[in-house]
Order: sequence, then C-alpha cells, then structure tokens
Amino acid sequence: MSKTYNIAVIGGDGTGPEVVREAVKVLQASAAKHQFKLNLTDYDFGGARYLQTGEVLPASAVSDMKKHNAILLGAIGHPDVKPGILEKGILLKLRFELDQYINLRPVKLFPGVEGPLKDKGPEHIDYVVVRENSGDAYTGTGGVTMKDTPHEVAVQTAVYSRFQVDRCLRYAFEYARQRNKKKTLALCGKTNVLTFLYDLWERAFHEMGDREFKDIKREYYHVDATCMWMVKNPEWFDVIVTGNMFGDIITDLGAITQGGMGIAAGGNINPEGVSMFEPIGGSAPKYTGKNVINPLAAICAGGMMLDTLGEKKAAAEIEEAVMFVTGKKLKSLGAGKMGYSTSEVGDLVAKQIAG
Ligand code: IPM
Ligand code: MN
Repeated sequence: MSKTYNIAVIGGDGTGPEVVREAVKVLQASAAKHQFKLNLTDYDFGGARYLQTGEVLPASAVSDMKKHNAILLGAIGHPDVKPGILEKGILLKLRFELDQYINLRPVKLFPGVEGPLKDKGPEHIDYVVVRENSGDAYTGTGGVTMKDTPHEVAVQTAVYSRFQVDRCLRYAFEYARQRNKKKTLALCGKTNVLTFLYDLWERAFHEMGDREFKDIKREYYHVDATCMWMVKNPEWFDVIVTGNMFGDIITDLGAITQGGMGIAAGGNINPEGVSMFEPIGGSAPKYTGKNVINPLAAICAGGMMLDTLGEKKAAAEIEEAVMFVTGKKLKSLGAGKMGYSTSEVGDLVAKQIAG
C-alpha cells in the first residue's frame, strides 16, 4: 500500500521557485524509489502577488495550509516591498497560525565544503539548534509612544510562558535522546541579565531534566559565550535549545560555519500539526532566473520534511546524496561558483538517489 502525502509548495520570491523546483525533483526521485506519492499543490504567496493584489495572504491561506501534510517554502522577500511586511505577513503569520513552535536548524559541515573555521572539518561541526519559534520578542507585544518627537519611546517585549518553554524543552530533550550521539542538551540563555526570562527557562530545563530525562546530560551557556564556542569549539555541541531571538541570531552564525546559506536548511515544526520546511537563506534577488543559485539548502529542507513525515530512510538517503555531491562534485557552494547550474545540481542529487 503506497502512502500519499499532500504537500503545499510555496516557491515565493526571487530564487525561491528555482531552488524549490530542484527540491521537488529530488523528492520525486525519492518517492519513486521508496514507493510513496507526493500530491503537490502550488501557492503563489510572496512579494509579486502582494504587489499585484495588495493582499499579503489570502483569507483562506491558513485553512488551506491546514489541509496538507506539510509545506515546502522557497523564500519570502522582495526588493520593492518594505522590510517587515512580507516577513510578518507571510512567514511569521504561517509559523504562528500553524503553531509551528519549533524551529529545527541542523548545523552540519558536509564533506568537501570549505567552511570558514580553520582546522574544523565535518567531524567537528555537527549539531542541531532547537530554536523556540512561537514566543520571545516575536509576539509583537509592545508599542510606541510620542512617536516622531525627541521623547519617542519604543518597547518590544520578550514574552515566554511556562507552557511555551516546557513544550520546546520537551521536544529538545526528546530530540537529543533520539539523535543518540552525545546525549547532551545545552541551554543557551542570558541568565545574568534576562533574570526573569531565562530564569524561567533554566528552572524549567532542570526540572524537566531531573524528572524525565536523566539520560541526557545538561549544559548551560550564555548566548554571547555560545557564539564564541560555536566558532572556537563547535565539536562541544550536540543539541542546543534556546529562545526565538537568540535562536535566530546563532543559527545565522551556525549557517556560515557550515558553508553558508546555500546549504543551511530548517524546519518550522508543529509536532502535532502541519510543519513547514525552508532553506534558511533569503530570496537572493540578484541571482533570480539565472540558474546559478545553490539548491542544496532547499533539497536538504525537503529531506527534513520527509524525516518529519516519517520517511526516515528516504530522508537519510537525501542527506547522503547531498554529501556525495558536496564531497565529489561541487567546486564550491557559492552561487555561480559550483561548477554546475542550479538544475544540474538538482539532477546530480536526484541521480544519486535513483542509483
Ligand atoms: C529566519 C528569518 C526570519 C526570522 C525573518 C525573515 C522574519 O530571519 O527565518 O531566521 O527572524 O525568524
Ligand atoms: Mn534569521
């Protein structure tokens, strides 16, 4: 009996549609091999649609997305649209409305990739950041008074409930257990200054660890120190759990240590609902339509999607195929410097999977 997955595909802006096309190519090769089916539906959300219609997301978008098993997203961001509109109106709106409360971001240096960290190879850079994805300064709590006067005051508050913290910690502990590598979970916070916010995290972390996860070793790092160790000793890390804002920042640092935005993928996960997978880079407008952008991050996002859907073997195979391509084929990960075009890179990965 073959399974069918209903996937919403949002190519989005800039190079988003080009990289998603390659991810879909690889997913189809994987589906053929592993005998599942993908029922893909395209959605035109993004800057171009907004400029044409004045509408960021159609009213039915959230309920439409809920009818799918998962969402594959390219990139959101348009040079002619003021920053914030599309990010808040599409990306953050979907994350919040679908309650994708985990942002899972692996940091892994693949073979053949020249990262910027001296003397650090694939054996040193292989960890996962579990970024909380529903709270913090992202909730929009705050406001501005006396605007446009010399006394203007702006407040934007980091907000966390025990419920949000607990569900994220539980996911992270379970992830560390199932990953079964160093069985270590590091909390990244700022307990020396954010003495309300990260005190809540720290207490919840140890209470849950003592109660339910005695097999997982616990560590704590301040966020500033985390940045330092991610560069100096990335091999220390296994799974890092942190709030939304710190998670946003440290995963860009993580991405660059694994070779940059061409390879970094992430999943916005609702373990009980509909999750959305994306390359974590932007829409790269200057490369749009040139068939030069690196599609590997989108391909890896597709692999993460299959893993979350339960197609573990197919997912692992996509990662292996990507590692083969970085290790044996590509000259570099940069747009226009791969030695292959965008579609040729997709072909290489798909061919490796087909065998
Ligand atoms: C990311 C992005 C988004 C975020 C922006 C585009 C809203 O930087 O996915 O990391 O801050 O979460
Ligand atoms: Mn970011």
